[in-house]
Amino acid sequence: MSEEKEIKKDRAGITRRKFLKDAGIVVGGTAIGSAFFLSACGEKVEVTKTVTTTAPGATITTTAPGTPGGTATETKTVTKYICPVCSQEFDTLDALKAHFDSAHEKEAVVQDGVINITVNGQSHEIRVKPHWTLDYVLREVFGLTGVKRGCELGACGVCTVLMNDRPCLACLTLAIECGSKRIETIEGLAEDALNLHPIQQAFYEEFGAQCGYCSPGIVMRTKYLLSKTSSPTVSDIRASLSGNICKCGNYSNIIKSVQLAANKVKGG
Ligand code: FES
Ligand code: FES
Repeated sequence: MSEEKEIKKDRAGITRRKFLKDAGIVVGGTAIGSAFFLSACGEKVEVTKTVTTTAPGATITTTAPGTPGGTATETKTVTKYICPVCSQEFDTLDALKAHFDSAHEKEAVVQDGVINITVNGQSHEIRVKPHWTLDYVLREVFGLTGVKRGCELGACGVCTVLMNDRPCLACLTLAIECGSKRIETIEGLAEDALNLHPIQQAFYEEFGAQCGYCSPGIVMRTKYLLSKTSSPTVSDIRASLSGNICKCGNYSNIIKSVQLAANKVKGG
């Protein structure tokens, strides 16, 4: 398989979390490293530049007439691999990898960070790895498995939580960026199992959940919608939930649920 095909294959087959994990990004610093990272980020680009050839008898169109067997210059497009750290150019991916290992090894150290984060009203100080995403921390550190994991590419919305009262895709958010932020998940809505939040109650009454996998993300986005407009129209609801995919196709009940939720939140 050609290098170009390998790069395309790597790019197509990774999720953001896997990319970040394998890349070992140092947030706030300069360095990133691993052979995988170079496959994903070591740019293969075409650059137009003036080159000198010393190949005897080279057949080229020269900008300055060359002498057969001597040297000549020409302007042409060549393929180069660019180092993502220092922008140095290399002719092959292997040359770039060798350069990266020797020149940037020290910079490829992964650094942890300590953040203060408020989750469902409780403040926590936690140490996080730079590649940990918010959904990973919420699920694996805090045990909040109501935060669902789906595409991990920002395309399905199942991981939606509220960050400082605004919807946030937890799979696309690095935990280390969440210092001093307020996070609210589905677990933070109900007082207890017998006292559901009005939005949850509305989804229950209107059968807004079938398998329920999409529901936490949709409920959190509904909470944001109703904080902005107390009487959303159907098109408001559709627009607001357009980033949340329901694999069960339960959309008509979801819309009815949001309408009922609006009435309940208003006290109707
Ligand atoms: S898991 Fe986050 S958008 Fe799909
Ligand atoms: S209810 Fe099953 S994915 Fe939406």
